[in-house]
Amino acid sequence: MLKKITTVAGVVLLSALTACGSGGGGGTASSGSGTITMGFAQVGAESGWRTANTKSIQDEAKAAGIELKFSDAQQKQENQIKAIRSYIQQKVSVIAFSPVVETGWDTVLLEAKRANIPVILTDRSIDSDDTSLYKTFLGSDFVEEGRRAGDWLVANASGPTNVVELQGTTGAAPAIDRKKGFEEKIASKPDIKVVASQTGDFTRSGGKQVMEAFLKSQPKIDVVYAHNDDMGLGAIEAIKAAGKVPGKDIKIITVDAVKDGMQALANGEINFIVECNPLLGKQLMELAKKVVAGEEVPNRVVTEEGTFTQEQAKAALPQRQY
Ligand code: AHR
Repeated sequence: MLKKITTVAGVVLLSALTACGSGGGGGTASSGSGTITMGFAQVGAESGWRTANTKSIQDEAKAAGIELKFSDAQQKQENQIKAIRSYIQQKVSVIAFSPVVETGWDTVLLEAKRANIPVILTDRSIDSDDTSLYKTFLGSDFVEEGRRAGDWLVANASGPTNVVELQGTTGAAPAIDRKKGFEEKIASKPDIKVVASQTGDFTRSGGKQVMEAFLKSQPKIDVVYAHNDDMGLGAIEAIKAAGKVPGKDIKIITVDAVKDGMQALANGEINFIVECNPLLGKQLMELAKKVVAGEEVPNRVVTEEGTFTQEQAKAALPQRQY
């Protein structure tokens, strides 16, 4: 109890100090009660992963006693920028967001910095030379995820292998990095070729539509590399509609490991999944409390993740939360 009171008092004191401070961040708890207010600008609701991520953030904010102001940008950068500006106006204690795309954030983040509101990047990072614009970045190593997908293919491909790639949202960190990591690994096997690569915007319908086009334009497809489960699931529908057997006639590698993807892997329709953990809420709230209290936090917090084969998916499915 004593510890709790000390912490709250510390936050209030810090707010008073930073309100007239240098603009270097540190929090401006705004509710008047000492409660931390977080403005969270979410990407959208494009995938099963995103739904699980949103739930984790909402649940953990509640559990941590953090007042959450939540917005859904419907995968549009301009909506996220608007949401961030509105959080600045509302003088929230901390802003957290998962950037739809990597570039174009400096102006709005500078506004947050000048308003002395610390920013936490979660899930996706930004491409900016100014690392003072945010306190920390919590999320996966997307390049490593791409490498894991590439490693599996290098180990499992035999003979000439034509790959079609379903990319995530154009300009988004996971799309750029998962492509990069995958290409890095398959470069060691000249027999493996990416014959077509296009964005499916991380959605099931996008994956289906692009796969339908690939099936018409490509004479030989051996493997689909989808940057997330949802696009892989869309590709499965397109492959079946074309009279082929997903997982056998055309092998499928995806990223995420959400329940629907894991079920398809267990059924043999997907062949390998690289995990991307959406349950970032608890760590995010812990980091938020620290940055608002003016404590030092690491500038990068990497999420721990694994990979799944069919057998591993069957074993993990009964306990899968999302
Ligand atoms: O940024 C994480 C990615 O975004 C997930 O892999 C994907 O499913 C989501 O839409």
